[in-house]
Amino acid sequence: MKETIEIAKKVLKTNRRSGYTLPTNNELYPAQWNWDSAFISLGYSYFNMEYAIEELEKLVSGQWEDGMIPHILFHDNDESYFPNHKTWGCGNKIPSSGITQPPIIVTVIKKIVDQNKLDQSQMKRIESIVKKLKKYLDWFYNYRDTSKIGLVSIIHPWESGLDNSPIWDSSLDKVKIDENLSYERRDLNVSRSSNRPLKKDYDGYITLLNQFKKNKYNPSKIVSDSMFNVIDIGFNSILIRATKDLIELAKKFNLNFADLENKILKSEESLIKFYKDKDQSFFSYDFKNHKLINVDAISNYFILFANLQNQDINNRVINKLKKYNSQKEYFFTTVNPKDKTFEETRYWRGPVWINSNWIIYQGLKNKDIKFAKLVKKITLKLLEEKNFHEYYNYTNGACLGANNFSWSAALYLDFKFE
Ligand code: DGY
Repeated sequence: MKETIEIAKKVLKTNRRSGYTLPTNNELYPAQWNWDSAFISLGYSYFNMEYAIEELEKLVSGQWEDGMIPHILFHDNDESYFPNHKTWGCGNKIPSSGITQPPIIVTVIKKIVDQNKLDQSQMKRIESIVKKLKKYLDWFYNYRDTSKIGLVSIIHPWESGLDNSPIWDSSLDKVKIDENLSYERRDLNVSRSSNRPLKKDYDGYITLLNQFKKNKYNPSKIVSDSMFNVIDIGFNSILIRATKDLIELAKKFNLNFADLENKILKSEESLIKFYKDKDQSFFSYDFKNHKLINVDAISNYFILFANLQNQDINNRVINKLKKYNSQKEYFFTTVNPKDKTFEETRYWRGPVWINSNWIIYQGLKNKDIKFAKLVKKITLKLLEEKNFHEYYNYTNGACLGANNFSWSAALYLDFKFE
């Protein structure tokens, strides 16, 4: 649909600021977010390569000395968002948050390089980003893989990108909330409270933030002292895929990232242990409280994106995924509607998100092309009918959260043209 394509481009261009793009043009997210930016760059690559590369350059320009790329970069002094740059009180060159997000940027860059004939100067710029991404992935394995099993921990629900997924409920419940906690939420001024995380979630989020700040964001200390530590299937799937893709990218640039090769085998071996035969599913693990997290969430199926070298397990996951949403009008819900934690309209506890569908599609297309095509068809139908929102109701496609949402527009372009 020509018209939808033009609307998608317009959403991205309207949300663009100086060299980076807001997740949406309202006040909900007035900064640059890590994984949003990567998806957005992929969208630009279909009509403005300069914007695509600049978006990524801007993101990696906020990299910390230790290698971390923060989950938010605050490029201006906007204080309408909470927690803003003052609350976090950190950053290297650019004020930022003190935690990270899924490193989807690596797979995005590989896709852009594979799909386009870039000129010499563009390739030079990409090479410089790729070198920084090596430092980023090393940071994960150095500081977040504390047991040296090839799997990393997240220490805040915001790191997952799936903020209030029920995956975090039991772990967050165990966080001892600061007694003197005082803060003012801004998201509820611009979004319905029935769609957003609860107060008890925010109490946990801010207590964790305060503890990291007290530890001056020391990358070892904030992990060892953290009251929240989860080995998440979705996050590790994206990291394993990123590691594989970075090795391939390195070859293109004659860089030697051979040390990453050892990680893959170890990570895959460790990850497989989280596959539970009885449920035919992978589950995340609460590392702090030694407990498997038995929630049927779509991010457990991101395992397909990791391209595990185990066809048997991949097939079983695909078979289970085929039954995940029996209602076929729109999918995938972020949580299985049969799971007791499912909430139809609340953020990451039920609605359909376009980036989840994209990750699943990318994981399916080399394993079950027929099913992958169905995922693509349903996603394009939703976007062509409803245009670009933050998330959607699975029963009727109703639009939820922010409108003019950048990654929904960007990923529409990728679904359409890849
Ligand atoms: C928010 O503010 O809701 C963001 O998702 C946090 O990263």
